[in-house]
Amino acid sequence: MLCQPVYFEVSDKPNSCRSLGPRYTVFDRLANVLIRHKIGNNIYTHLLYYCIAIKIYQIRLMVTVISASNREDNNTRKVAQSYQDLLTRKGVDSRLLSLDEVQVFERNAAFLDVEKEYLVPADKFIIVMPEYNGSYPGILKLMIDNSDINRSWKHKKVLLTGVSTGRAGNLRGMEHLTGSLMHMNMIVHPNRLPISRVDTLLDENDEIMDPGTIKAVDKQVEEFLAF
Ligand SMILES: Cc1cc2nc3c(=O)[nH]c(=O)nc-3n(C[C@H](O)[C@H](O)[C@H](O)COP(=O)(O)O)c2cc1C
Repeated sequence: MLCQPVYFEVSDKPNSCRSLGPRYTVFDRLANVLIRHKIGNNIYTHLLYYCIAIKIYQIRLMVTVISASNREDNNTRKVAQSYQDLLTRKGVDSRLLSLDEVQVFERNAAFLDVEKEYLVPADKFIIVMPEYNGSYPGILKLMIDNSDINRSWKHKKVLLTGVSTGRAGNLRGMEHLTGSLMHMNMIVHPNRLPISRVDTLLDENDEIMDPGTIKAVDKQVEEFLAF
């Protein structure tokens, strides 16, 4: 009797393991070959295959971290940089798209370059966004509205973090954006992290120094990578 794990279901359909991401199809097929040839026909070997697949997936995964402020010397970018540094330490390929560096006002040649380099190739997104007047910034909405939704965002997974000097950590803005992202057929991770009083959490190198925040960010990213 073959012990066939649910995460490697036999299927002829491409992207059959959609919940684990399109790249799992390769591992799906590899596992089925091993199972058919009765190689490693026990639960422990399947667990080993699964761990190897997760590791390879994380190495090959590309996450775009979006810093959603175009204000000069904004704090959001510092927090977004911390997320990218963390991904690097975890061995995950990532790119940082900071909206204070690029042109997103109209869908011109410069915008198409941004889309091609940061949006289309991303498997997952982490959006770090400041609280501006009780919501997320207009520049983020403008960037989204100027992009090709199907190629850039549709069916991709996204993690949200709010940043504010006030107490709310942009909870309301994350709620507002979640509605739009779900309308765009995105999958929003439920652990949306509000980072409030951000001006008290950074050290002289603009890195997060507060142990509680460091722990919360690490847990959030770990959950998102396994999501
Ligand atoms: C236009 C604007 C509106 C803001 N509105 C709020 C707000 O509603 N609540 C709040 O806690 N902070 C608000 N802030 C302060 C930001 O939370 C603060 O600047 C924080 O560092 C995140 O924004 P930053 O990335 O631009 O630095 C606002 C800042 C700006 C520039």
